Amino acid sequence: RDKLINKAIKVLEDNFQDGGFTIPSKGLYPFQWKWDSGFIALGFAHYDLKKAKIEVETLLDAQWENGFIPHIIFHTDSDSYFPGPDFHQSNLHPQSSKKYRSTGMTQPPVMGFILERLLEIDKGSDEMLEFISKQIDKVYENHVYFYENRDWNNEGLVYIYHNWESGTDNSPMWDDIWLTMDPPEYEFERRDTSHVDASQRPSKREYDHYLYIIDVAKKYNYDDAKIAEHSPFLVLDPLFNSILIRSNEALIKLYKLLGGNDEKIAYLKSKQQKSIQSLNAKLFNEELGAYLHFDLRNNRQIPYISSSSFTPLYSGAPDRAMAERLVKTMIQKFGGEDRYLCASFDPTHEKFNPKKYWRGPVWINMNWMLYHGLKRYGYDELGQRVKNDSLELVENNGFFEYFDSRKANPDAEKSGYGGDNFSWSAALLIDFLK
Ligand code: DGY
Repeated sequence: RDKLINKAIKVLEDNFQDGGFTIPSKGLYPFQWKWDSGFIALGFAHYDLKKAKIEVETLLDAQWENGFIPHIIFHTDSDSYFPGPDFHQSNLHPQSSKKYRSTGMTQPPVMGFILERLLEIDKGSDEMLEFISKQIDKVYENHVYFYENRDWNNEGLVYIYHNWESGTDNSPMWDDIWLTMDPPEYEFERRDTSHVDASQRPSKREYDHYLYIIDVAKKYNYDDAKIAEHSPFLVLDPLFNSILIRSNEALIKLYKLLGGNDEKIAYLKSKQQKSIQSLNAKLFNEELGAYLHFDLRNNRQIPYISSSSFTPLYSGAPDRAMAERLVKTMIQKFGGEDRYLCASFDPTHEKFNPKKYWRGPVWINMNWMLYHGLKRYGYDELGQRVKNDSLELVENNGFFEYFDSRKANPDAEKSGYGGDNFSWSAALLIDFLK
């Protein structure tokens, strides 16, 4: 156990950069990513609180004037990644950061529950509370940004306009949306496939779609209302919204601890209630026993189940019966004895691919949220299995980005794929073990 933790610490230390941030993985991801940063801070917090705080501070320092926090902060010049700042051109937005170059899209808002967990790890110390009091308004402003700019139907659910905003980049979830688009063939040099085997990454044609949506956003200078009107991709994601709800809950709790802030608490509470109601009414599918993505552009639920479908457990939104349904689906479709939990996409579906990024492999950050979600509803045994599977995968294979869910893997000796020495796999392993 200690040996594994020491190895994890080494991964984090190697990936920590002079600018006060941590890269997810050398070569493949050479900048700071929004949701990675949050999970990474939890790993640091167990042995170096200063670094945990710096990670959070640096990320929040890149916030725009309108409260938006970008998905990648380009702290350095690096030609090992595409698309870089010259493609994204987020400075087209009048309120973008003057200090940092970044993308003009975001990622799941984890920072609320990350602050809460940091306080837990530091046993409620005054120093951490003091740190939180300096950072929390930025996280609050980020939530206000979402509710005021991305809640298209005023229903408490916020949209994502790009698959990269979901975090689950090439999920089969988006396949039907790609069919509604016909983007030009872009000419560019892929950089990811010079670090990772192409069979584990998205296809060139998928990248054409990704780039095209960015071009649409650029055409409208990253204006949210225009994007909502014109983006071919506009989705209510159960993962993104569950994370927002869970972070709301954390902000309410932290503001109460800090004292004052009644207006902010009232705002968050009213949003919270509405979000939970709409999440259950609009995204839960009784027949499939899962929360689904909702395609706003084409006005339909997307009828596929992924690990995102179970993350509302972490937010506390489902009632007892819904939670029971979710667990049943997870066990039946994802939880066979020959499988590690939890595959990122329905293993019984023909679109499942055990090696390809978000089309099937197990991810440690998803498992971390599922573990806490299952525990929240009292499914301790299943939660424990998710945790043990995570530990076993890392122990057997190393700190990879994602893992094969098949216990007997016929294709390879190692079941770890994507980037090696991947920061959040290391950070969350530490958090699991401490
Ligand atoms: C990538 O380049 O695949 C990143 O995950 C985008 O966020």
